[in-house]
Order: sequence, then structure tokens, then C-alpha cells
Amino acid sequence: MTATINRTDIELSDDWRSWTPDEQDHWAREVRRLAAEKDAVILAHNYQLPMIQDIADHVGDSLALSRLAAASDRGTIVFCGVHFMAETAKILSPGKRVLIPDAAAGCSLADTINADQLRAWKAEHPGAVVVSYVNTTAEVKAETDICCTSSNAVEVVRSIDPDTEVLFGPDQFLGAHVRRQTGRSNIHVWLGECHVHADISPSDLMATVRAHPDAELFVHPECGCTTSALWMAGRGEFPRERTHILSTGGMLDAARTTTGTAVLVATEIGMLHQLHKARPDVTFTPVNPKAACPFMQMITPPKLLRSLREGTDEVVVDADTAERARRAVERMIAIGRPGGGE
Ligand code: 13P
Ligand code: SF4
Repeated sequence: MTATINRTDIELSDDWRSWTPDEQDHWAREVRRLAAEKDAVILAHNYQLPMIQDIADHVGDSLALSRLAAASDRGTIVFCGVHFMAETAKILSPGKRVLIPDAAAGCSLADTINADQLRAWKAEHPGAVVVSYVNTTAEVKAETDICCTSSNAVEVVRSIDPDTEVLFGPDQFLGAHVRRQTGRSNIHVWLGECHVHADISPSDLMATVRAHPDAELFVHPECGCTTSALWMAGRGEFPRERTHILSTGGMLDAARTTTGTAVLVATEIGMLHQLHKARPDVTFTPVNPKAACPFMQMITPPKLLRSLREGTDEVVVDADTAERARRAVERMIAIGRPGGGE
């Protein structure tokens, strides 16, 4: 496509991958100028394209970005991530204008459960506490007792009376991780998955680990290979002390302090940009180099510029749904470590 974005001093094509260094500089200056003019803060998830991460005010994991959105004193939040993240920011800050550069940036995991399905599941387990991953729609959050992210899921479940049943959804691999970590048998787990992380398979993991036997291993708990990583550690095939199950923010914290020189990374490949920046002296190798999230990549440099110029796409959550969802999201941001973003 060759549509153009008109600017005062230059025209930028939508084909941003072929921009010259001068055009990239113009884009960056224009984004920063408009952000200041519109009183906007730009938040970017760790899986965003490198150019988006580099122009943002803050880059972080889901939990850190939710906290930053809630604490921001700017009138506008431009959320470079997927739709449920921008919606969560709107739920926390109903008085602010929240923009996402492309509202069609969805999430295959969030699509695995809707509010009707959750209501039916609750009816089967009266009295259970519902814990929903933040990767869900506002309507699902409105039916939820406490939300969580991958960085605080274990702590959220530990905060619940051990004798009370828990409905955990929608990610089955994160649910299995929480069940293992808490040792609880009264957790029911929804069988959803993220297609990107599910595709980071046990065979990818085994091949990569065998090719790099001295490396550290960072695994996101949404991965289809999380159980295999721990199984390999349990059988002594790969040392347990070098196997770390971490959120994206946790991976960055661990990268900053690692004493190793090589790290294998099982998550979406956008993560490698922050890891390389944090530790240029360490070699980071993706377990599946094709694990790119198509939804995250829908947020492109031209769309970010257009979002700031034209106020698109504005995120709207109806007041009643937002009110009911807010309790669950506020409980989420109150639990867990403060880090995970910068
Ligand atoms: P975190 O940033 O919370 O680790 O989440 C990963 C993810 O899949 C977001 O879509
Ligand atoms: Fe959703 Fe998976 Fe993409 Fe994260 S990586 S936004 S969970 S589809």
C-alpha cells in the first residue's frame, strides 16, 4: 500500500520498513512533538516493534503498564499494545482519553472465553473465586473477582483462602504453572491458549536446549513448552537453577542480573529488543524465532503517528461494565512486585 501521511515538512509512506534514516528521524520528532502538544503518554508493551518501543515513554509488561496507566497525570494515554491492554487502561482511568493506534489489534487468548461462557462456568461452581488473566475482554473482567498478569498470577491465587475453589482462566499453561507453584488442587483451569506461545513447542525447546547446554533458560508461563522445561529440569537434562519461568518484565529483571553469557528465550520475539538493550554483552537466542504476535505487530510507526494526529482509535468501555471490571483490575495492580517496566 502506498497511501501517504501528510506532514508539514515531509510525506511518509505507509511502507515504514523502507523509510530512510532521515524519514525515521522526522517520524520520531513528529511523534514526540505531537505527544507533548496533545498531553499524551506513550506506553508500549515489550512485544511491540523496536521502533515503537524506542519512541515510547515507558516500555513494560502488562502489569507494569497497567500501573503506569493508572498513575499517569497526562490527559491522553496512547497504548501501543493489544486491545485488552488499552481497555484495561481505560477501565483504570475512565476520565482519560485512551487511544490505541489500531483497535483491530486483538488477542487470540482473550478470544478463548466470553462473558456468557464465564457466567455458565461460574454457575457450575457456586462460591468459587474467579481469577482472570488480564488477557480478557472488559466484559469478562466484569464477571471476575481478581485479575492477574503472568507476573503476579501465583501471588494473586495465594491471596485467596486455600479452602475456596478457584476458577482460573483463560490460559491453560499459566493455570498449570499456578497450580504447580501453589500446590492447590482446588483450581479449575479454562482450556484457552495463546496461539503464539502455544507454538513454542516442547520439541523446539529440546532442540534449542541441546544445542546450547550451557545457557540460561527464560520461559514465559503462557508457553506450550513450560511443562517440558520443568520436566527436563526434573530429569536432570537441564539444570533447574538455570530454568526460569518469568513474565516479560521478569525476564528483563533477570537479564539485568544474570552472570551467564547466553540466554535461551521462550516467548514472543519482540522481547529480544529490550533484552539486547539491557544486556548487549549477553547472547539471547529465541527458542522459536518465528514466534511473532501478528496482533502486536499491527501497531506500526505510521499508525502511531496517525493516532496522535487524528485521535484514533479511541477506546470506549461502557460505564457499567467498566465499573464492575474496575474492582478486579484494581485488586490485580495492588498485588505483586512493583517492577517490570521502565
Ligand atoms: P506479560 O507482559 O504480562 O508477561 O504478558 C505477555 C503477553 O502475552 C501479553 O500479551
Ligand atoms: Fe495475545 Fe498471545 Fe499476542 Fe500476547 S502474544 S497479545 S497473548 S496473541
